[in-house]
Amino acid sequence: MAPRFEPRANMEDLEASFLDKKKKDSTKWKDGVFYYTLCSAYALAFCIALTLLMLLGFLLVSNLQKYRVTETSQPQVPCFFIFGDSISDNGNNNDLVTMAKANYQPYGIDFPGGPTGRFTNGRNLVDIIAELLGFASYIPPFATARGEEILKGVNYASGAAGIREESGQEQGDRICMDRQLQNHQITVSNIVKLLGNNESLATAYLNKCIYSVAIGSNDYLNNYFLPQYYNTSSIYNEEQYAAVLAQQLYQQLLTLHKLGARKVALFGLGLLGYTPVELATCSTNGSSCVENIDNVVALFNDKLVSLVDDFNSNLPNATFIFINTTQISLNSSSAEVTDVPCCEVLRYPQPETQCVPLGKECSNRSEYSFWDAVHPTEAAYVVYGERAYRVESPTDAYPFDIESLAQL
Ligand SMILES: *[C@@H]1O[C@H](CO)[C@@H](O)[C@H](O)[C@H]1NC(C)=O
Ligand SMILES: *[C@@H]1O[C@H](CO)[C@@H](O)[C@H](O)[C@H]1NC(C)=O
Ligand SMILES: *[C@@H]1O[C@H](CO)[C@@H](O)[C@H](O)[C@H]1NC(C)=O
Ligand SMILES: *[C@@H]1O[C@H](CO)[C@@H](O)[C@H](O)[C@H]1NC(C)=O
Ligand SMILES: *[C@@H]1O[C@H](CO)[C@@H](O)[C@H](O)[C@H]1NC(C)=O
Ligand SMILES: *[C@@H]1O[C@H](CO)[C@@H](O)[C@H](O)[C@H]1NC(C)=O
Ligand SMILES: *[C@@H]1O[C@H](CO)[C@@H](O)[C@H](O)[C@H]1NC(C)=O
Repeated sequence: MAPRFEPRANMEDLEASFLDKKKKDSTKWKDGVFYYTLCSAYALAFCIALTLLMLLGFLLVSNLQKYRVTETSQPQVPCFFIFGDSISDNGNNNDLVTMAKANYQPYGIDFPGGPTGRFTNGRNLVDIIAELLGFASYIPPFATARGEEILKGVNYASGAAGIREESGQEQGDRICMDRQLQNHQITVSNIVKLLGNNESLATAYLNKCIYSVAIGSNDYLNNYFLPQYYNTSSIYNEEQYAAVLAQQLYQQLLTLHKLGARKVALFGLGLLGYTPVELATCSTNGSSCVENIDNVVALFNDKLVSLVDDFNSNLPNATFIFINTTQISLNSSSAEVTDVPCCEVLRYPQPETQCVPLGKECSNRSEYSFWDAVHPTEAAYVVYGERAYRVESPTDAYPFDIESLAQL
């Protein structure tokens, strides 16, 4: 997709006063038209000063044309950085040696251009949020993001990744949260360079962005609840494990804050027990483990709320919010089919999670909650994304939603 949007970078403040004027002057405008209309509207001396300023003052001046955006495509924040797992991944695993990849059919069947590495039939959670924030194109994956496009944000999310390094390793390679933060450090250095090596300018820019963090499912489904591969459940009881995960995430979020994040949305984990793969596993197991999984995961979600309170009272100028995914899923009018995947997934010899390559899929996809045996359909992501962005019920987000976070 051609990146139509480019952030306004450090031209923003300079232009802010002009933009108000421009809105009054005309609704349609092109770069050159804007500039010369201004010149006719203001004194000649002002225009000369403006021209000199533009020519001399800014490294980005040569990119000025590209940095213009149309009114409709102007996002509410200059950039959006994304951390997490397969809920958000949009291609970072494509070149890794892992079973956790989705760059094959039927994934992407409803996405323009087909499979991209998104673990769903169409757009994923953060695509919906990027659209609602007003971005004209999706946030590029770290694996392929280059040059100036990083100014609008980068997606570091990796399928099977967790807060803990080992989570998901039974699937193969993945980029755990600590490595995602290292990748963000690289992006931050590159943004400083793009902004003329002006650290304070870069910091002010990064402070305005939204950061989403949706991680932890694999620390349960691909760690704690897989005792045949992992020993965490023999080391920690359920409460201790939630505390250990929250403590590690706390450190990771402090690192993110040090790298300039001031507006952070933390996504709680959903009802992992009700995913088709767990329903299948639990039924073959002959035990009612579904509620148990959800109760254990709820312990971690409670800790996320405490993290939000802690950060909001102790970190200067930072705002964290919690998205209650469980609440949204319980409170939304549910799809007709919630217990089986839309695409063809192997159930024998053991229940699998991903679609069979080139397998069949259901035709009525908007009636299904799950695309494969763990990942929501685009239709479900639309509900999660819309309600995370703008709450429908007050408890969808705490203390408020992403739209309010953007406006701070
Ligand atoms: C960095 O950018 C800020 C804001 O535009 C400006 O005030 C400051 O002079 C710049 N610093 C340097 C060293 O260029
Ligand atoms: C758990 O497994 C890890 C390796 O995955 C190992 O380093 C550690 O010693 C084990 N701990 C226990 C208590 O078995
Ligand atoms: C299957 O049942 C055993 C005990 O009957 C339990 O320990 C295990 O956690 C169950 N599997 C899952 C996925 O919950
Ligand atoms: C908090 O924000 C204010 C106003 O933007 C700024 O002056 C101050 O330095 C910031 N404090 C910290 C610790 O970043
Ligand atoms: C999320 O919402 C559910 C359902 O409304 C509620 O039971 C739970 O306490 C909430 N979780 C948190 C951590 O606020
Ligand atoms: C969602 O919760 C609101 C109250 O906050 C309630 O009025 C509404 O009926 C609920 N919707 C569903 C589908 O459960
Ligand atoms: C979806 O389509 C399949 C086959 O095309 C059909 O069996 C199923 O009943 C439909 N589901 C719903 C909820 O309409």
